Amino acid sequence: MSGKPVCIADFEEYARTFLPKSVYDYYRSGADDQETLAENVAAFSRWQLYPRVLRDVSVLDLSTSVLGHRVSMPVCVAATAMQRMAHADGETATARACQAVGTGMMLSSWATSSLEEVAAAAPGGLRWLQLYVYKDRAVTEGLVRRAERAGYRGIFLTADTPYLGRRIADVRNRFRLPPHLRLKNFSSSALAFSPGKDFGEDSGLAVYVAEAIDASVSWDDIRWLRALTSLPIVLKGILRADDAKEAVKIGVNGILVSNHGARQLDGVPATIDALPDIVEAVEGKVEVFLDGGVRKGTDVLKALALGARAVFIGRPLLWGLAYQGEEGAKEVLQMLKEEFRLAMALTGCRRVEEVDRTLIRRHRGLSRI
Ligand code: FNR
Ligand code: LAC
Repeated sequence: MSGKPVCIADFEEYARTFLPKSVYDYYRSGADDQETLAENVAAFSRWQLYPRVLRDVSVLDLSTSVLGHRVSMPVCVAATAMQRMAHADGETATARACQAVGTGMMLSSWATSSLEEVAAAAPGGLRWLQLYVYKDRAVTEGLVRRAERAGYRGIFLTADTPYLGRRIADVRNRFRLPPHLRLKNFSSSALAFSPGKDFGEDSGLAVYVAEAIDASVSWDDIRWLRALTSLPIVLKGILRADDAKEAVKIGVNGILVSNHGARQLDGVPATIDALPDIVEAVEGKVEVFLDGGVRKGTDVLKALALGARAVFIGRPLLWGLAYQGEEGAKEVLQMLKEEFRLAMALTGCRRVEEVDRTLIRRHRGLSRI
């Protein structure tokens, strides 16, 4: 890459050359043959936009609300683990960038900064905590209580990870945290994914998940969590209409249509293709979000046209962090915002409420895979 990045791919190119191989591989990889990894991006191209013209788009409002909180644009940051591998400031830089841009941040439970540190770094920012269900429920409950105390506005419960998906590069690299880092939300070294431990020949993270995370997690645990906290709960990792309906019945406040950035089960559909059925199934009862493969302003617009309230980005933010910490993360968010602004203007939308289903159709001649 020469000169300043002008699109999200430029940030990735920088990260690829700058980051240690095992870190870049961990961030980039999808599961198995990575079919879904490519699909998440490619599927957006199979949806085409039908713009309205002559609508006076000289003044635009890109803001919306997510779970009752105002954000400056319908693009928020998804949980990605271990951000201090990308930049020394890690999650605290992300929090400051989100606060500066006026959008929300979902913090991974597996952050290399504690959730309190992240809150203190950007006290005015909007934050949610991403949660896994530990074999020891007291660990999970402890995280929820700390999130409540530290002013987090909701919980994103990751439903698609009873075991970690198989990422081949991580197995080859025997992926571990660098020695100076640990998962800072946990005091015990067993839960901190400390590099001192012997993880054998596998991806260390896959071993960690098998040891600590409860593979027996079920809908009962969602009921348990619902009873445990009054914070809004979003179920992350839903791809089926029936699962979405069950979640609504239990009383969750949102659904995040996600395939975990194609890192769990390979061979699942792109999230943009899974979205319409889920939007239809929940009948407007809860907010529906999407993540996976969002790389451009038109991707954001397409997801909104198909019924998403907002989208979340995973890897692009990591590439921004690798590029220039807080500044780089801010640049990524601002770039997507400006691209989304142009997509709104060129489709004749002045407010996000005007982005509707008539703006988008499946590419003619291509079957709905
Ligand atoms: C993730 N994701 C993730 N999800 C989660 O619930 N908890 C986590 O700790 C992580 N960690 C994580 C690390 C890395 C390196 C990646 C790339 C992803 C999944 C993430 O929240 C989100 O679903 C995807 O990243 C969205 O896809 P894109 O935007 O990366 O294509
Ligand atoms: C991942 C875990 C942390 O995708 O969710 O690597």
